[in-house]
Formats: sequence, C-alpha cells, structure tokens
Amino acid sequence: MTTVRINASDAVSIETSALIIGVHTTPEGPRPAPGGEGLDQALDGRLAEILTTMGFTGKAEEVVKIPTLGALPAPVAVAVGLGDAPQAAPQDGPEDGYDLETLRRAAGAAVRSLAGTASAALALPARTAAEAEAVALGGLLGAYDFTRYRTGGDRKPPVGELTVLSGAAGAEEAVAHAATLADAVTLVRDLVNTPPSDLWPARFAEIAQETGGEAGLSVEVLDEVRLKEDGYGGIVGVGQGSVNPPRLVRVAYSHPEASRKVAFVGKGITFDSGGLSLKPSASMDWMKSDMGGAGAVFGALLAIARLGLRVNAVGYLCLAENMPSGSAQRPSDVLHTYSGKTVEVLDTDAEGRLVLIDGIARATEDEPDVIIDVATLTGAQIVALGWRTAGVMANDDALREEIVRIAGEQGEGAWGMPLPAELRKGLDSAVADIANLQPERWGSMLAAGIFLREFVPAGVRWAHVDMAGPAFNKGEPHGYTPKGGTGALTRTLVAVAEHYAGNGTSPQAV
Ligand code: BES
Ligand code: MN
Ligand code: ZN
Repeated sequence: MTTVRINASDAVSIETSALIIGVHTTPEGPRPAPGGEGLDQALDGRLAEILTTMGFTGKAEEVVKIPTLGALPAPVAVAVGLGDAPQAAPQDGPEDGYDLETLRRAAGAAVRSLAGTASAALALPARTAAEAEAVALGGLLGAYDFTRYRTGGDRKPPVGELTVLSGAAGAEEAVAHAATLADAVTLVRDLVNTPPSDLWPARFAEIAQETGGEAGLSVEVLDEVRLKEDGYGGIVGVGQGSVNPPRLVRVAYSHPEASRKVAFVGKGITFDSGGLSLKPSASMDWMKSDMGGAGAVFGALLAIARLGLRVNAVGYLCLAENMPSGSAQRPSDVLHTYSGKTVEVLDTDAEGRLVLIDGIARATEDEPDVIIDVATLTGAQIVALGWRTAGVMANDDALREEIVRIAGEQGEGAWGMPLPAELRKGLDSAVADIANLQPERWGSMLAAGIFLREFVPAGVRWAHVDMAGPAFNKGEPHGYTPKGGTGALTRTLVAVAEHYAGNGTSPQAV
C-alpha cells in the first residue's frame, strides 16, 4: 500500500527517488507551473529547452522523465503536462486557481509512470488545501496495481511512498482526507478485479462484516433462508440459479448529532452470465465487474465511517450470482418482490433491476432523506454516454442535478438523463404488475430507470446512477484510472454524504 505524507520543504532539497513537477503549455513553449520553478533554477534555467528537445509541450497528462545528473538529490525529475495555465490565483476567489481534476489526473499519470520507484515527491501546484488534496488523491489512485494473482514476473511495484510538497493551511487534514478516500477506492477496485471464483455473494458479505466491523459500521447479513422468509423475491429469483446463494447486506453508520440520513443501494451481481438468457462470450468475460455498484456503496460507507461524518448513512449491497442451471429462474417466471408488487421476468439478463427493487423497498423502511442506487445496469448507458460518463436519473429534478454537480466536482463523469413517461407502457406485463424488460431496445437505460421508479413510494426522493461504463476500464490506463476496476462513484457517494452532513467534518460547518 502506497503511503502519503506532507512536507513544506523546498522541492529541490528533498531526498526522494523522483521529483514530479507540473508544466504548462504557452505560445512560447513549456513553462513550469507553481512548484516547478526550483527545478528550472537547479537546471540553470534550461528546463524549457530540455522539455522542448524531448518533444514535450505541456499538454494535459503528457509525461516525460529527465535525469537530473546531480543537480538535486532526486536522480529523476518527472514533468507532467497541466495544459494552459489558469487565469487567476486561487486566493482571488473559490472559482479561481487550478481545476482540481486536472491536478488529480496529472498526479496520477506521473505516479503511474514511476512504477518500480521507491518514492516520489509531488511538487505540483498545491497552494491551497484543496489543491494539495487533489495532488495527494491523484497520486495515491495512480499508484494502484492489482497483483494478487501474479506469481513473480518482472512487473514493477507501484511507488511506495509519496510526499506532497505544500505549505498551505489545512493541507495536513486535506491529505489525510485524500488518503481515506484512496483507501476506499482501492478496496472497491480490488473487489471488482477479484475473479468471481473468489468473490461470491457470501464472501462479499463476509468482507463487509470484517472490514465494515473494523471501521465501526454495523453490518447485518440476510442469507438465502432469511431472504426467502422475508419475501425478497427479486434477490432470491436472480440468485436461485447459482450454487453460491444470494445475500442482502445492510451496512449502517450513524452519528449522534446527525440530523439527516442518506441511503445508498448497490447492484452486487458478483458474476452476470445473463442466466438462462445467456450472454454471448464477448459480453461475459468482464461481468465480474457487475458488483461495482455494491462495491461503491460499501467503499463509501467505509470512508464515511472513517471520516466520522455528521450524518446517518445506510448502504444496501444486493448480492447475487446470475447463473443458468436447472434451478435458475426462467423467462416468464413471476416474482413476488419485497415491495409487494409482482414482476414478470421476460429476460433473466435484466437482473440488476430485480435485485435493486428489493434493496430500494427495504431502504424506504429506514425513512432516509434520499435514496440513491448505483448500478452497472445497462449496456444502453455505454451506447448513450460512453465509458466514462454515468447516467443519472431521478424522481426529483433538483436531486438529479445535485448529484451531477457533486460527481463533477469529484471529476467523476455524470450526466442527467430523463425518465420519459411514454416508456412506461412498454413495461406492461400480460400477467404481472410489471415486466422487467421493454420489447424494444431503444431507450433501455431510461426504461430501466422507469422500472426502478415504480418501486419508489410517493414522497421518497430517489436517484438512480447507471455506471455500466465507468465501473470498469477495458482500455488503457489514463490519469489516475487503471485498467480494470475503477472504483467509480465511490468518491461521489462520500461527497453526497458530506453534502448532507453540511459539507464537512467540522462541527461549525453544519
Ligand atoms: N450487467 C448488465 C449491463 C452491463 C452491460 C454492464 C455492459 C456493464 C457493461 C445487465 O445486467 C444487463 O445484462 N443488461 C441488459 C439489459 C437488457 C436485457 C434489457 C443490457 O443492457 O443489455
Ligand atoms: Mn444482466
Ligand atoms: Zn447485470
């Protein structure tokens, strides 16, 4: 595990294996960003010349390594592009200074390039606590690698020790906050990357009990017997085809002075084969990531507890393995769900919504101020918004925009999507209250949202985040995002909880 600390000393005197600086593009060529001036001086003012010789322009996330040849204690300097310089300094107003996501991504890309290096100092712009936090977070998330299943080989380990160079007021707390978030995201990435042979519903529940217990969460697990007795027909139906039975996990955190309660519900399909409506192989091999929503909910609850936020938070992990077998649910089966409504299963591959409605119905019993479900729900989300932008739907316009804004502040792509009333008709069932699938594929991200909304009682504020694309990076690493599990939406959920806590951990903020 990579560690981070803060140091206010001079960038050029620090003992480290690598010094990371930021560089801007300008019409006159690359120019060091704040924090990078010392390196330029140590190189006799020739940094721009060196970078230009290397073909480096300062474009966002561009990375180049330079040997320092004794000019400073660090043998290697790493220049990372920050694009155009911001117009104004941060002290001019809250909107000025660096875009925090630019800093996170730059720190991530630079640290990622340093795999195999023992330590690195980040001399990126960190003139405010928020900038220092962004640098620390990007660096820690960029240092991720999933090595549990590798036996030896020549893969280089991530940087072990990061030092953020900043003298900003509050930087110490800000960097600690970043470390808590990074720990949570790292755990979620590990859960998503773990093969389904080692992460089935009961195992996930065990991890929630162990890790959640240590963090002070109260964790309650409903096994397949309880689920059946208590009428969780959706979760039972999806899970009944697997030898690994389903679980519903409730993780709860409360603060004695909290006045508000948030509820998060996560889709936790530890493997989605499609069930009897079997997926083709090419769509199946990455369906170990179909528990990314439950992962994000659990990671967020951990971070909320560790940060001691002044809010009550409850998370539901709707865990099942969707498999075909002699005991699997069949297309045309009708489920009696926890809400009391019946659902005709026209397609067993539309399973996420079946487990979520039981989680949502249970969450309403907690009487939260808001319910947010997060789910790798539809391929249509990827068609509509691509790999990096989640779709946000809600029964409340202000809530939807609030979540889009909060996600944007964390650098997590999210975009508001409608729930058009005319799509409800397509979900009519010939035999039950509703069908789990509309006959046509057009608008199926929205139809899934409309299906879920039917299970939210009137007066309950609810939002649905479809993160099918963002949960898993099938492409190359970028910024602080590795290949594979991304931990997407974990930080957004924490930020939502902070928002409901009154924006922070300090008593006077509420
Ligand atoms: N887990 C999938 C959705 C998914 C697809 C997630 C690609 C990540 C990447 C979900 O359970 C599913 O199979 N959805 C179907 C629904 C359809 C049958 C209505 C889909 O999107 O094709
Ligand atoms: Mn499916
Ligand atoms: Zn699924």
